[in-house]
Amino acid sequence: MPAVGLGTVEFPTVHENTKNAVLAAIEVGYRHIDTASMYGTEKPLGDAVAEAVRRGLVQSREEVFVTTKLWGSQCHQDLVLPSLRESLQNLQMEYADLYLIHWPVCLKPGPPGFPNKKEDALPFDFEGVWRAMEECQRLGLARAIGVSNFATKHLEKILAVATIPPAVNQVELNPVWQQRTLRAYCATKGIRVAAYSPLGGQNWDGQGNAVLESPVLAEIAKARGKTVAQVSLRWIYEQGVTSIVKSYNKERLKQNLEIFDWELTEEDRQKISQISQKKIIQAESLFTPEGEFTSVDPADMDIV
Ligand code: A2P
Repeated sequence: MPAVGLGTVEFPTVHENTKNAVLAAIEVGYRHIDTASMYGTEKPLGDAVAEAVRRGLVQSREEVFVTTKLWGSQCHQDLVLPSLRESLQNLQMEYADLYLIHWPVCLKPGPPGFPNKKEDALPFDFEGVWRAMEECQRLGLARAIGVSNFATKHLEKILAVATIPPAVNQVELNPVWQQRTLRAYCATKGIRVAAYSPLGGQNWDGQGNAVLESPVLAEIAKARGKTVAQVSLRWIYEQGVTSIVKSYNKERLKQNLEIFDWELTEEDRQKISQISQKKIIQAESLFTPEGEFTSVDPADMDIV
């Protein structure tokens, strides 16, 4: 899995915008693109990869690592395989490189969407759903399988029943939400961690961008002659974590790949480790305080 991948969340989704961004990304060197049935970007991603092959930007689809995800309303044992098949049809691909359970949340069957009421959230059948995920890999429809937004307590439920352990856990992670406890746990279990919102996301909580506006990161960026985005992405890379970074702008797409030929200093790393911690995505619409799951396992909270 290439260390930097392109994220394709943009609401509202405009087919041509996503397609052009994916094409531009492939043109400047991205070989890893992330989508989900929920985002509505599987089709433009598939169109872009097909066009990239036609234009000779890549020789074949095999050169691009593609991740997609299973939404909660399909987190039912008998709906997993049909859902992946539908995703593959959208992607116009024979297989996904990585298939992830999007959230440890099971919703009433139906088209991907957010629950309207508490009753839409159902108990999660970790064993049954994971068996079906394993079947996807055995059938060759997913080269690897994993999870997203899983806290340690959810990972434990999967590991207890898995014959194929999850390869990846994709979570919110950046210098402002460092996930030290979860990362340490994943390291002991051989689970690769991937970071979404590596630059703090798209103002999801309406409070600006705690990463791009961080004075600590700005000071380091100035000293290194880099941008704040590059400092954040470099720090994530140095932690052994894969970044899923979204940009639909060609210059920023390029900039976000220029993180491999320089390093942070020990002093920079020290300063970053002191940044006060804040989780941006609370996912209130998926989690209720009285529900079975919370968005964060208290065991994973590592507020500095
Ligand atoms: P844009 O698509 O206009 O570049 P995340 O990946 O953390 O979700 O954050 C992505 C947000 O940060 C997007 O709004 C994206 O907007 C913006 N962004 C991506 N790369 C950079 C960069 N190098 N510098 C500043 N903003 C960036």
